[in-house]
Amino acid sequence: MGEYRKAVITPKIIGGKKVWQTERLTEKQAFHENFPYEALAENIQKILGKEFRQLHAFSAGLETAVKVTSKGKLLIHRTASKVNKIEAAPNNRKKRYLLPEGTVVPPLQDMGIFTKDGRVVNAMYDKYKQINRFLEMVDDVIQDEKKLHIIDFGCGKSYLTFIVYYYLTEVRKMDVSITGLDLKEDVIRKCNETAAKYQYRNLKFVHGDINDYETDGPVDMVMTLHACDTATDHALYHAIQWKAKYILSVPCCQHEVNREISSDTLMPLMKYGIIKQRTSELVTDSLRAELLEACGYKTQLLEFIDLSHSPKNLLIRAVKTDYSEKRREKSMEEALTMCRFFHVNPTLLRLLNKNQ
Ligand SMILES: C[S@@+](CC[C@H](N)C(=O)[O-])C[C@H]1O[C@@H](n2cnc3c(N)ncnc32)[C@H](O)[C@@H]1O
Repeated sequence: MGEYRKAVITPKIIGGKKVWQTERLTEKQAFHENFPYEALAENIQKILGKEFRQLHAFSAGLETAVKVTSKGKLLIHRTASKVNKIEAAPNNRKKRYLLPEGTVVPPLQDMGIFTKDGRVVNAMYDKYKQINRFLEMVDDVIQDEKKLHIIDFGCGKSYLTFIVYYYLTEVRKMDVSITGLDLKEDVIRKCNETAAKYQYRNLKFVHGDINDYETDGPVDMVMTLHACDTATDHALYHAIQWKAKYILSVPCCQHEVNREISSDTLMPLMKYGIIKQRTSELVTDSLRAELLEACGYKTQLLEFIDLSHSPKNLLIRAVKTDYSEKRREKSMEEALTMCRFFHVNPTLLRLLNKNQ
């Protein structure tokens, strides 16, 4: 009914006490609220009929479905449930990663992320968290495609590339080929050697520049993790040109807009270096998102990783969709208005204009 898609109420143990926790889910976020164990009925009453019209309740041996009709009448349907015990779970459960510690991903042992027995090397823990999170975002968005060709632009040492390849081929059993591209020739040679060593036949690495990269084959997904400054724009532009279905991009060092941006109206934002830099990052990435929308991509800006692990913590996730022309034009107009306001002309916009 409202902006929430779903609310889930579960018993929890927090600070040694039993409570109920409501998790309300919007399209992009989850909001949590705890309330006392005795207050279940009144809390269900609060949201049922106001925020939601349907409720599914699970208890030991019984499942109950409740529906509020448009006239406010309650329809109740009970069935036997296979669940015979419901327990309150402690709230401090360890985060479950798609590739938990102990998973042996052989190339990543060679690369120094995992030890021989599958533990994460201490100094690599932040990187491990980042790539696991990125993998979650990939896993969450891709459907049941049998075949996927992915390009990882600015792959660097390619921890992410190897992990995505391993996960999609070995765990999800998909027919996936990945090309990693980077400017660093020696790094690319090493990645190709590692791929050959583990007989990852559909994983290859190419030495080259994102800006002028060309390919004939179809590209289903483009990913970038910290491709520097405008390299991200070129990667996004390629993805748009190829009509790639999925784009996942964590930008970094957004210098271009920082050099151009100005606004008399928002002078305090322009006056202090650090604020100007952060404003430029937000302007750059919100413009990228809006331009992707203008090109027919349903686009989300997601928190990629906790700020304490990396300040580069925003992920652009875009999925090709069938937006109407009117909707796309509106996004373009909004992006242009913002560019005029801040006196910027970012690379992605210039590349798109050049092609018209
Ligand atoms: C910060 S590193 C990130 C590497 C890797 N994606 C990761 O997250 O571990 C950025 C990489 O992008 C590469 N790069 C930057 N601009 C590029 C361009 N125009 N074409 C190809 N690679 C580029 C750099 O050589 C570098 O390896």
